[in-house]
Amino acid sequence: MNPPSTIAIDGPAASGKTTLALALARHLGYLYFDTGVMYRAVTLAALKRGIDINDDDAVSSTARTISVDVLPPTVDDGRPCTVLLDGEDVTWAIREPEIDAQVSIPSMYRGVREALTIIQRQIAARGEVVMVGRDIGTVVLPDADLKIYLDASVEERARRRWEENHLHGTDGSLEAVLDAMKNRDKLDSERDIAPLRPADDAVVIDNTNLSIPEVIEQVIQLIEGR
Ligand code: CDP
Repeated sequence: MNPPSTIAIDGPAASGKTTLALALARHLGYLYFDTGVMYRAVTLAALKRGIDINDDDAVSSTARTISVDVLPPTVDDGRPCTVLLDGEDVTWAIREPEIDAQVSIPSMYRGVREALTIIQRQIAARGEVVMVGRDIGTVVLPDADLKIYLDASVEERARRRWEENHLHGTDGSLEAVLDAMKNRDKLDSERDIAPLRPADDAVVIDNTNLSIPEVIEQVIQLIEGR
């Protein structure tokens, strides 16, 4: 077996990317890197600084000046990684519904995407990485050794996210989560720069009716059969 060194996993919100990517990274002994946390950290930084989220220049300049560190979990509370924004632990703060609702706006800005893409490519250049996002297979790492596009129905994804939110004590109805998710899907897939879509050479897996172990097994088989 010659395992792929760079693995790109893209797909819409709550499609199971994190679970799959973490399992693959563990299986292969690779770095797990979720690029979504960087867009979330930029959004949080802009809100904290009182910057208007619709001000492209101000938000892009925030993206260029903040420092975002993504580390292996530093606290055993179910987090897949620890996220530091200018040294402060924002791992759960970037998961609040307020960030969910706004994150697709900074993600549309060229300045923000350019700043974050540079960092993502530097991390991937070291190899042995499972990188997760929306545009990894299409823009960030067009030459990734393996590209997976993970999908599921929006109803199933909203149900999963609502369950996750409740585990972390966040209130809100399933309908509200579904509406926010449809809105984010639309913004992510219709934006001009790096829209959410499968790369031409991605393996597309719809896991609406698959269990987590089934998806992981399917991808491990794919890797071992190469
Ligand atoms: O965890 P979830 O799938 O809900 O979202 P995420 O992966 O944390 O990404 C949050 C948002 O960041 C997405 O809805 C996109 O707007 C943006 N994003 C992006 O534009 N490009 C990426 N490579 C990763 C995330």
